[in-house]
Amino acid sequence: MINIIEFNEIGKNEGKLISLEVGVNILFDIKRVYYIFEVPKSTRRGYHSHKQLKQVLVCINGSVKIDTEYNNVKNTTILDSANKGLYLGSNVWREMYDFSQGAVLMVLASEIYDEKDYIRDYSEFKLKEVV
Ligand code: TYD
Repeated sequence: MINIIEFNEIGKNEGKLISLEVGVNILFDIKRVYYIFEVPKSTRRGYHSHKQLKQVLVCINGSVKIDTEYNNVKNTTILDSANKGLYLGSNVWREMYDFSQGAVLMVLASEIYDEKDYIRDYSEFKLKEVV
């Protein structure tokens, strides 16, 4: 499944603060954090799903568009604020594109990196979908 998480912002005039906490606004144990940056405007990345991995994507600077597909339902999400997260459960196909100048996409992940958890072939992903 996928869903948008709105993070609570603390502070206003003195600047804002957002806290990501397991069990509060992140509902899995975080084993890895990585970030994607300096992506050329014309680049599209992703093109995979995960067998088990759960992730929350947060664009902490700039903006990015993300196409997802889960159980035959396609969505486009624009992450353009640090107060928004996109939860991607397992078996979600994703493609990220239109990274703005300076965009930084931070990803919180439930597992350490494991290439065996990836499905990088779209037809294989479609075969695994629940009809
Ligand atoms: P990939 O997950 O395919 O990136 P994206 O979905 O953003 O296009 O990863 C790109 C490369 O980086 C690939 O060779 C695997 C490697 N990688 C790691 O070594 N560790 C990680 O935590 C991640 C996410 C990727």
